[in-house]
Amino acid sequence: MTQTITVIPGDGIGPEIMRATLRVLDTLKTGLQYDFAEAGVAAMEKSGELLPAATLESIAKHRVALKSPLTTPVGGGFSSINVELRRRFDLYANVRPAITFPGTKSRYDNIDIITVRENTEGAYLSEGQSLSADGETAISMIRNTRRGASRIVRYAFDLAQRLGRRQVTAVHKANIIKTASGLFLDVARAIAKDYPQIAFNEMIVDNTCMQLVMKPEQFDVIVTTNLFGDIISDLCAGLVGGLGLAPGANIGTDAAIFEAVHGSAPDIAGKGIANPCALLLAACQMLDHLNMVDQAQRLRMAIRATLAANDRTTPDLGGSGTTETFADALIERVRG
Ligand SMILES: NC(=O)c1ccc[n+]([C@@H]2O[C@H](COP(=O)([O-])OP(=O)(O)OC[C@H]3O[C@@H](n4cnc5c(N)ncnc54)[C@H](O)[C@@H]3O)[C@@H](O)[C@H]2O)c1
Repeated sequence: MTQTITVIPGDGIGPEIMRATLRVLDTLKTGLQYDFAEAGVAAMEKSGELLPAATLESIAKHRVALKSPLTTPVGGGFSSINVELRRRFDLYANVRPAITFPGTKSRYDNIDIITVRENTEGAYLSEGQSLSADGETAISMIRNTRRGASRIVRYAFDLAQRLGRRQVTAVHKANIIKTASGLFLDVARAIAKDYPQIAFNEMIVDNTCMQLVMKPEQFDVIVTTNLFGDIISDLCAGLVGGLGLAPGANIGTDAAIFEAVHGSAPDIAGKGIANPCALLLAACQMLDHLNMVDQAQRLRMAIRATLAANDRTTPDLGGSGTTETFADALIERVRG
């Protein structure tokens, strides 16, 4: 049966990196069909809505989406479209791999860390936000649930098992945030017992940040709550050469959305020099999700070889190529 995916070209550099990514994907002969849908400023300009109903219907129907970055307009009470998509489709697992690639400007050459971040609750959502009338006191709530903690920790262990990984580290602040973070840690400790073949480690978030900078090779899979995961996964992206190489998957029971971690980069939009790698690596995660593991592996090897040779890569990687020449170099390697 032919698989159709929703494709959201997005804003800024989005359409440029999506065009390049689809060109490479087509070379892999995945047989994927694309249902193009709009979101972000591009959609706002056409339909007056940041997240049109037709886009939501397309994702609900096809259950898999590849999404370029979206611009969230500043001011005017606009909330993040990405947060809204996660909420709508209950995309509870945010999976962000950080892998060192040869030939890239990174501090380390031996990193292979997957951060599994809870995506639907916790301090990041800042529920119940309020500011006192005198503007002197701000309040927001942390709401963690046993259900939320259980499903993300189980997702992390299942992922580790599937990928043959050796260790899961639960990152928390249960020593201070005793109830919200304590609940997460209790759940992690209990679930770890169901996976005796995978080493379980627990670490306080501040120490984790220091350890990541000093000795990142000790980490394998990290599982943590929403806000800590937001920060730690960017830290990991920084360890391996920045956001241009950082993909992310947002996974729920009924839908999954794959994206680059970076934004719409308005400063370079339209110049044809955006690095498509993060979106291509997100496409690899999507192919894995669709059980097209061989194609995902071929694409990852092509990316690795192209980066190692610094062949026609974009300026952010020190190359003098363009988005399209980078895609050409990948296509040649994918074809073999
Ligand atoms: N997932 C998303 O949709 C997402 C994520 C983050 C930010 N945003 C939105 O993107 C817009 C711009 O945000 P920002 O400027 O803070 O962050 P950004 O990630 O767009 O840009 C930060 C810097 O990184 C560079 N950069 C980013 N991606 C690149 C790429 N693929 N190739 C080469 N250089 C790249 C940019 O040129 C810029 O100098 C905002 O409207 C923000 O809301 C969207």
